[in-house]
Amino acid sequence: MNYLLNEGYESNIKVSKALGSKIYIGKKPYEDLSYGAGTLLLGHNSKVYKNIINNLKSKKISNYAAPNIYAERLSKVLYNYFDGYFKKFLFCSTGSEAVLKSIRIAKAISKKDLIVTVSGSWHGSLDQFLFFPSKSMRPECMSSGISKFYNNNLKIIPYNDINKSNKILKKFKSKIAAIIIEPIQGCLPTENAKKYLLYLQKFCDKNKIILIFDETITGVRTYEGSVHKKFKLSPSISIFGKCIGGGAPISVVGVNKKFSKKLLDLKKRVYFGGTFSANSTSAFICYETINFIKNNKKIIKNVNLKTNYVKKEINAFLKKNNLNAKVYSFESMLRIVFSNEEIINRTQRDFLEKKQDLNIIKFKKFLFKNNIYYPSNGVLFLSKDTSLINCKHLISKICLGLTKYFK
Ligand SMILES: Cc1ncc(COP(=O)(O)O)c(C=O)c1O
Repeated sequence: MNYLLNEGYESNIKVSKALGSKIYIGKKPYEDLSYGAGTLLLGHNSKVYKNIINNLKSKKISNYAAPNIYAERLSKVLYNYFDGYFKKFLFCSTGSEAVLKSIRIAKAISKKDLIVTVSGSWHGSLDQFLFFPSKSMRPECMSSGISKFYNNNLKIIPYNDINKSNKILKKFKSKIAAIIIEPIQGCLPTENAKKYLLYLQKFCDKNKIILIFDETITGVRTYEGSVHKKFKLSPSISIFGKCIGGGAPISVVGVNKKFSKKLLDLKKRVYFGGTFSANSTSAFICYETINFIKNNKKIIKNVNLKTNYVKKEINAFLKKNNLNAKVYSFESMLRIVFSNEEIINRTQRDFLEKKQDLNIIKFKKFLFKNNIYYPSNGVLFLSKDTSLINCKHLISKICLGLTKYFK
């Protein structure tokens, strides 16, 4: 008997506990590069988290599937955190659910069905988004069990490529309900996307298309609060998840002023619902986490400084030794690309990494042998608890592994 796991080099690993920067497999500690797939900016079992759980008990918070003061307070703190930009918040339990509901809102308001996604963006394990672009940018299904009709209402444009995106968008502009994008992507985190995001925003404004930013990873993790705030952009709808909940399963759809009004003006309302939507436990943990991060912004600054240090040291080593890899980062999210060519999107990454599959697995196993947990999806995170000593350890082992397999 077993539970269904994704394939991956770590499919035999069973984590038993975690503290600070370490996860434990059996009794052995491993330096974590996943932090709960980016949910734990404050580290494992942080003091903050423990205090929140203690407060949860002392306030006798149970699970209310009814409107509650904690969801109300959370809306207020989110409203302030994003400087009043979002007028309506919808609470969900996962990033995927938030994506699904944001798409429903976009279709209801626009009264159109065509959704555009951007190559390399991950929007969760949803039937309508388990597609990758073919060479000619046609959506190709990446899973069995997906109904064929999903690709009728989907177009894909290439991330960070304005010319090619423009050609596709111009062709379909009158039919598009929304463009959804992970503004900074886990598959290639880079600061160099502002121009592309601005282009999408202008195209959407001009053609009355709804722009959805999926900031499941970047929301709250970004020093300014989000990518839209950092780059001064104005999406119609944004999605937040992961570290916004400090470990609790909660995600948020934020709708801006203009589209909140349109949502209220609809003749037939958009139907939502969910047993755990806006549940008091998750709402309380999320509220306390955001308040803590808001009042301790230097934590984000420090994690970002450490991430930058790790990236710079490894890249300097790679360059000096002419190895075939390069580290990319955005705030405290990192990715090692197993090619030293300068690239701008996942399509290029996949092409260059195509022949490296075996070496990539060997590299991950090498790190695992050296007590470093490298998540199989390759999206790496540091946290408040990744100390400078941890960083130096990571740098030395990663450089050793890259020398072994990517000369
Ligand atoms: C940008 C983005 N959107 C959506 C999701 C889906 O979130 P969840 O796994 O909570 O459903 C993820 C998860 O990795 C993500 O990174």
